[in-house]
Amino acid sequence: MKTKRLWGGRFDQRPLLAAEKFSNSLSVDRRLAKYDVEGSIAHVRMLENAGLLKKTEAKKMAAGLSAIKTELENETFVFKPTDEDIHTAVERRLCEKIGDAAGKLHTGRSRNDQIALDERLYVRDLIGQLDEKIKNLQKALLAWVKKYPNLIMPAFTHLQHSQLILFSHWVLAYLEMFQRDRDRLSDALVRVNVSPLGAGAGGGSSLPLDPEYTAKLLGFPKTFANSLDAVSDRDFLIEVLADLALISVHLSRICEEMVLWSSSEFNYLNIAPGYCTGSSALPQKKNPDIPELIRGKTGPVFGGLISLLTTLKGLPLSYNRDIQEDKAPFFTAANTVLGSLEILAGVISKTRVNAEAVEKAVDTGYLDAFDLAEFLVKKGVPFREAHGVVGEAVKYAEGMKKRLCDLSLPQLKDIHKLFDEKTKEVLSAKNSVRNRKTAGSTNPALVAGQLRKWEKLLR
Ligand code: ARG
Repeated sequence: MKTKRLWGGRFDQRPLLAAEKFSNSLSVDRRLAKYDVEGSIAHVRMLENAGLLKKTEAKKMAAGLSAIKTELENETFVFKPTDEDIHTAVERRLCEKIGDAAGKLHTGRSRNDQIALDERLYVRDLIGQLDEKIKNLQKALLAWVKKYPNLIMPAFTHLQHSQLILFSHWVLAYLEMFQRDRDRLSDALVRVNVSPLGAGAGGGSSLPLDPEYTAKLLGFPKTFANSLDAVSDRDFLIEVLADLALISVHLSRICEEMVLWSSSEFNYLNIAPGYCTGSSALPQKKNPDIPELIRGKTGPVFGGLISLLTTLKGLPLSYNRDIQEDKAPFFTAANTVLGSLEILAGVISKTRVNAEAVEKAVDTGYLDAFDLAEFLVKKGVPFREAHGVVGEAVKYAEGMKKRLCDLSLPQLKDIHKLFDEKTKEVLSAKNSVRNRKTAGSTNPALVAGQLRKWEKLLR
């Protein structure tokens, strides 16, 4: 086969160098090489099975493609400046290896269904990697739960002390968030896992192709139902990118707390020095750069989502070259999130909780005020009235620079007649947490139950 390019018959000149450069996508899509070759091997086997390739031809082509796969794995594959994209590169190389027989590789196929296939294979792998990495992060968090099971800390609303909770309860909140991320990805997988191969350029083919066969070979449970949709659908990328954006939100939220809590003002966390850096100017600094960077890297991920939505929004059916712009933002987002997940698991597993500082924080802010109000509610006092009474008690205690549990019974009785010798049993950090009853609350027995649930789930 003498033709150097995939197309060109209807042209009497090559595109201008500037146009060639502008449309070249190899630097981005070369990372799909492995999937491109796997897809081509399956395509060859289907063509043979459908009687479109002789056994000998198919054998030669499959062997050539396998050799190319090895070259790619060993990084001995030499890309050429004339390779427009990964598909062109692989076919060009096959032609170099097996000659004219390579010309049958593109039978019944277009780069339009080919690229959609490559992307789906890649995203399918990515979902597996993300799931594994999120799970590892959850395991690192669970180790915190086990290390500090009874540590009590302030919960916050509006970043002000609100109620008393177990530190482990706080950690478990993040396990829930990350579990939803995993669930979302596995939901998305259902729609990723559809083979587009056989849709051709978008309008189908007159050849006896067998899309079911390639789908089966490549492990897809489903094949496309509409050839136009198959080549132009990038919903699966947007959906997974939205999932990546939400993972970034969760990563950013926990990192924000880590940055805050490692400040001198909080001093709850001691981030391992290996994950901190110093200041070029201020000799005393130990900065929590890794959590800060994870928080900062949400930008490119969110940007990728907007970028892809925008690329798709005005496109007529079916394939349009605009769609080529789907890959760079997606890859950036995927790599960013994979990297963040990986390093955060390391940070968490090496970060020490400063229990003393956390315990000290519990004594300020009248965190058991709500418990005191519920004490009165249990005695039949309307909550609105109890709220007012306890508000007064807080004002009174504050005036004397005392905690609620330091008030004497006569002092309490002065505030409300229904306070009695049992009142103290609802005050103080330990009592407060132990008295919490509602499902999903911070009650130590319930938290222990959650711990068991997670141990089983993450095994
Ligand atoms: N590089 C292209 C992309 O990523 C591959 C498909 C090209 N199709 C075409 N008709 N030019 O979308």
